[in-house]
Amino acid sequence: MYEPKPEISDHSHVSSLDVYRRMYERSIDDPAGFWAEQAESLTWFHPWEQVVDRDFDAVDFSWFAGGQLNAAYNCVDRHVAERGDKTAIIWAADEPGVYEHITYRQLQREVGRVANVLRAHGVRKGDRVCIYLPMIPDLAYVMLACARIGAIHSIVFAGFSADSLRERILDAGCKVLVTANEGLRGGKTIPLKATSDRAVDGLDLVETVLVSQRTDTEVPMTEGRDYWLHEETAKQRATCPAEWMDAEDPLFILYTSGSTGQPKGVMHTTGGYMTYAATTHKYVFDVHDDDVYFCAADIGWITGHSYIIYGPLANGATTVMFESTPLYPDAGRYWRVCDDIGVTIFYTAPTALRAVHRHGDEWVTKYGRKSLRVLGSVGEPINPEVWEWYHDVVGDKRCAVVDTWWQTETGGIMITPLPGATPCKPGSATLPFFGVDPLLVDDEGNEIEGNDVRGNLCIRASWPGQARTIYGDHARFKDVYFTQFPGRYFTGDGCRRDEDGYYWITGRVDDVINVSGHRMGTAEVESALVAHNAVAEAAVVGFPHEIKGTGIFAYVIVKPEYDDADAAELSATLRQQVRTVIGAIAMPEAVVVVPGLPKTRSGKIMRRILRNIAAGEFEDLGDITTLADPAVVEQVVEARRAAT
Ligand code: PRX
Repeated sequence: MYEPKPEISDHSHVSSLDVYRRMYERSIDDPAGFWAEQAESLTWFHPWEQVVDRDFDAVDFSWFAGGQLNAAYNCVDRHVAERGDKTAIIWAADEPGVYEHITYRQLQREVGRVANVLRAHGVRKGDRVCIYLPMIPDLAYVMLACARIGAIHSIVFAGFSADSLRERILDAGCKVLVTANEGLRGGKTIPLKATSDRAVDGLDLVETVLVSQRTDTEVPMTEGRDYWLHEETAKQRATCPAEWMDAEDPLFILYTSGSTGQPKGVMHTTGGYMTYAATTHKYVFDVHDDDVYFCAADIGWITGHSYIIYGPLANGATTVMFESTPLYPDAGRYWRVCDDIGVTIFYTAPTALRAVHRHGDEWVTKYGRKSLRVLGSVGEPINPEVWEWYHDVVGDKRCAVVDTWWQTETGGIMITPLPGATPCKPGSATLPFFGVDPLLVDDEGNEIEGNDVRGNLCIRASWPGQARTIYGDHARFKDVYFTQFPGRYFTGDGCRRDEDGYYWITGRVDDVINVSGHRMGTAEVESALVAHNAVAEAAVVGFPHEIKGTGIFAYVIVKPEYDDADAAELSATLRQQVRTVIGAIAMPEAVVVVPGLPKTRSGKIMRRILRNIAAGEFEDLGDITTLADPAVVEQVVEARRAAT
């Protein structure tokens, strides 16, 4: 157990475990009272009439009904009077040592101009705008500009393929796409405009493509559709009125992978999400006015939405946007940034920590890191030894470490320690945040009470940051999260509650794998493989991977005409195939050609066996007698052995 550091407790918003417990109990007993107080820290154009109306059976949630506000106004304008010259965003460019400081006043003007550009291109309240940008200031401007005029942004991570981008544009019905000529990451350029061109080719739906200029590279521009963003903003005034949004008006859609089929457009609304992002950001990171807060995620994921932009800016903090990678130009990059700009709070994923850790402590200790106070982790379980390294080496045993568990659908952090208050156990996300009521259930949905138990992690009642629906498919929303265990929100994660009531996330219990902290549906990767001519059938599983946490392992059965193909070549082609269809993050570590797959007599693939074989555990494959053809197992083992 790591006790809170007194020097942090002395100044933290929540100074002890007792204070946490009192606040927590109050938040559960009186959610309306608790959340009304938190929401008051935002600026509302019109007060709400009802704090919460939640019905888990009907899958209908509303927070702050009757209230009106604007997310961009809360993140930008309201700070200008008091702290106009304070740095809102520090952009850390890909090139080491290059930073741009953007004050709240500058941010207001940039956002206003982009908002006017969107208006000039016909974007109105409720319209969807797709954003496919690298980590450059324009990304922040465009998302806040959307929020300002009430347009719904759908940000697509700039590592996704043209097919993935197209699919998301179509699903959300976006009329405008904002991209860049190129991205720049780790010294390499990423041809975003070329990918965007393929994505929107032949789509009448997309009327306008706005192109931000990150590099000097010329790109083809389609007359009447494509416009340089900087040329458009130069024509516009910097002031643009903020739309009054109802608390339950949508703020954004963000796609995430599920266990079946197409990615889901998770939809968040304005009042509850903003309240939740701001409140969690304040307490979990113990943010104060002079902090420099650096979340190293990409805004293309929920972590970047809630904890680079909406939470920190709503709190008037200084937030860092990092364009590069943890290993560029070397494994000391994070800590160099920390020293260069005096970072006090740092938040990243275990996969990045593992990647840096293995290069040796000298890359850390070379830098002072004196400004650091709070270190966060998110996205996947953190190995206890990496937690300890984070605490002992990166944080010099001085800093608080917060392992935060949450999801795209939860909008913000749900289970987490609070700096200065919660004693920590490495590998455990510890205790629920205010207003979050977790429970464990068995596979039949019976609640498992008491401590030292394991089960499926559910949440009992609505919290403000909860996703309201899957865009355009409320039935799927109900089905995925509220049907297996009626009356509860099911997270898809397995979890242990230990003897002290601490929560330990054990990983997904569905067909979703967590690769480098990113969620990937096995079904999606399988359909990318099957889309290739050579593949008759594919089965994808996860296996333990030293850096990524979980790696993707694919088994394929090829069509007879490919029986004689060179296995290594085919495997390389198929890995590339997944990269082309989905993006580099989905590329399997291995694609192994097998003569058959282990299936039950009813035709269901036994993934447990495939997982064991992928992990190299050939000895104890459990009961295989229920298989239609048990001999297949030996053949798969052989193919796996031959391939590696
Ligand atoms: O399995 C859990 C894992 O990441 C999933 C959510 O993924 P996504 O929606 O992409 O959001 C990631 C960033 C919030 C969860 O269902 N996960 C997230 N944080 C943790 C975690 N697993 C263990 N410990 C965590 N701290």
